[in-house]
Amino acid sequence: MMKVWGGLTRPKAMLCLAAGLLASSVATAQTWPKATGQQPLDPAIEARVKAIVAGMTLEQKVGQMAQPDIRSIKPDEVRRYYIGSILNGGGAWPAMNMHSSVDDWLKLSDAFYRASMSTDMKVKVPVIWGTDAVHGHNNIYGATLFPHNVGLGAAHDPALMTRIGHATAKQVRATGITWAFAPTLAVVQNPRWGRSYESYSSDPALVRSYGEAMVKGLQGQLGSPTSVLATAKHWLGDGGTFHGIDQGDARTSETNLYRTHAAGYYGALKANVQTVMVSYSSFTDTATGKKWGKMHGNAHLVGDVLKRRLGFDGLVVSDWNGVEQVPGCTKWHCPQAINAGIDMVMVPDDWKQFIPATVQDVRAGRIPMSRIDDAVTRIIRVKLKSGLFDASPATGQHPGAEVLHSAEVRELAREAVRKSLVLLKNDRNVLPLRPQGKVLVVGKGADSLPMQAGGWSLTWQGDQTKTSDYPNADTLLSAMKKSLGANRVDYSADGVGVDVRRYSAVVMVAAEQPYAEGKGDITFPATMRHSARYPNDLKALNRVSGKGVPVVTVLYSGRPVSANDLINRSDAFVAAWLPGTEGLGIADMLLAGTNGKRAYDFTGRLSFDWPAGDCLPRTGGVQFRRGYGLSLTSHKHLGKLPEKVLVMACPAESR
Ligand code: GLC
Repeated sequence: MMKVWGGLTRPKAMLCLAAGLLASSVATAQTWPKATGQQPLDPAIEARVKAIVAGMTLEQKVGQMAQPDIRSIKPDEVRRYYIGSILNGGGAWPAMNMHSSVDDWLKLSDAFYRASMSTDMKVKVPVIWGTDAVHGHNNIYGATLFPHNVGLGAAHDPALMTRIGHATAKQVRATGITWAFAPTLAVVQNPRWGRSYESYSSDPALVRSYGEAMVKGLQGQLGSPTSVLATAKHWLGDGGTFHGIDQGDARTSETNLYRTHAAGYYGALKANVQTVMVSYSSFTDTATGKKWGKMHGNAHLVGDVLKRRLGFDGLVVSDWNGVEQVPGCTKWHCPQAINAGIDMVMVPDDWKQFIPATVQDVRAGRIPMSRIDDAVTRIIRVKLKSGLFDASPATGQHPGAEVLHSAEVRELAREAVRKSLVLLKNDRNVLPLRPQGKVLVVGKGADSLPMQAGGWSLTWQGDQTKTSDYPNADTLLSAMKKSLGANRVDYSADGVGVDVRRYSAVVMVAAEQPYAEGKGDITFPATMRHSARYPNDLKALNRVSGKGVPVVTVLYSGRPVSANDLINRSDAFVAAWLPGTEGLGIADMLLAGTNGKRAYDFTGRLSFDWPAGDCLPRTGGVQFRRGYGLSLTSHKHLGKLPEKVLVMACPAESR
């Protein structure tokens, strides 16, 4: 006799139950928590926006939606094509001169601004310049660079983020630029991702507090001469892709999207962030099995959720040629992306094709005029709020060039370095060093500003640069010499032929070559062990350790890595991440004060789990949990860590 439940046969009842459970787990825009704290629209601004848009032609509107790179457009073309925005991608400088002066940047900014204000539009609309100022104004020769976000997360200090944001905004405004493509709000779940160092933490709560703090710092009082537009990026799930593959597929539930990956955006929205950049990644909803595809074409998450459910009233910008990844699209032609809710298209090179193709889409009914009007309304609203209509960012009021590397900004960056360092080991309390004799500094990274600064430094990848390209900076080597006296510090890149016993201490720097984005991926199944990728660091350490002289190892890395072999050969071990230009901040933490007492204590705590094995926590286990970090008074003896046989290719289950 078939049992029935509520008049249903068992199979049907089970189906209904399953459907009910699925429905309850399936998120819709309405299940997303509402954002709080946004400022209401200003009626006066809205009236101005409406009047400006009403007087614009379709070509002028579409021109406003284009964002070319400065390498592919001249100022007069901004006038002729009504271009709304320009950007300098990593490695683009005025006249392509890396050593351009602040005045060179101001002159170019003024040329673009004046061109945009010389159009035949009824109401002239100024062009807005965006730049990746992601750890200070990192494209500018001589600028002070802050630690990358992975280190700032270890500081656990939102107030410091606001101070850094404000200092960065002043650096950016000093060069006539008013839009920073920062902060990255990725909540990185897998440090294989090459952009892990752009993430503050794997902890959504920390990223949320930091997102709010950094946006407050960057934007400050919108319209003031020390304010820039901030960019919450990359919407959404860039830090949650399978295997941490750059521009890969974020496989999670939509519920987890908002609980984990959107956390920073709730903070940024509370701080009234004015722009959001869309992610290259795609999204597969593991609760329903739905493959949403690339974020650049995701009308649900960009339109229904970000704009309507969360009430974001600023502008949404695509990533660099990001629209081409939407099926059926090219770099310059993607009605799907614009219909999904992208307002400004970062079309670095092909902007001359973008404009007519998009005008044609509107005329053919593939893009409704209402969508174009919404995009242009948002663009002009943001420009009005930024103060661009009131004065040129280059010739109007703005900070002087000294803010790029003043004593004040260098001290702030030095403080940030100190607070970002995490002490993982300090056996026999070798730190702080009270060297009686000479100190030996070892390792290529100790004398390399490019390795100390990481990617997004002067160039996109942070490569093709040398230490002399950073005139206002200190490597750890120069910092140690300044702190102890040059005659008390010797240097060896590799420890070859050095009698370590002549020294009272050794400071070894292990470091990565700089990288950005996908170039930094440690692609599965490759090992996460630092010494597998940088064997010379282990060789150097083997030459100087175990000689009865204390060895302090400082690791420059863009993410937590498997390093038990290095830690075991060190008496003290400091995770220094990518500290930027202020190597003195590291020396501050390694050396006792002149009175022999410690000058500072380690307050940095891991903002990511630190792996024990070569294949990430899932199989290798966690060596140090998020939140771990010693102080000089911990007096914790770490002893020898398990040093497993090097795994060069990780097993499938470690993904
Ligand atoms: C890059 C990055 C993005 C950056 C943009 C402009 O590809 O994904 O973070 O803001 O291009 O440089």
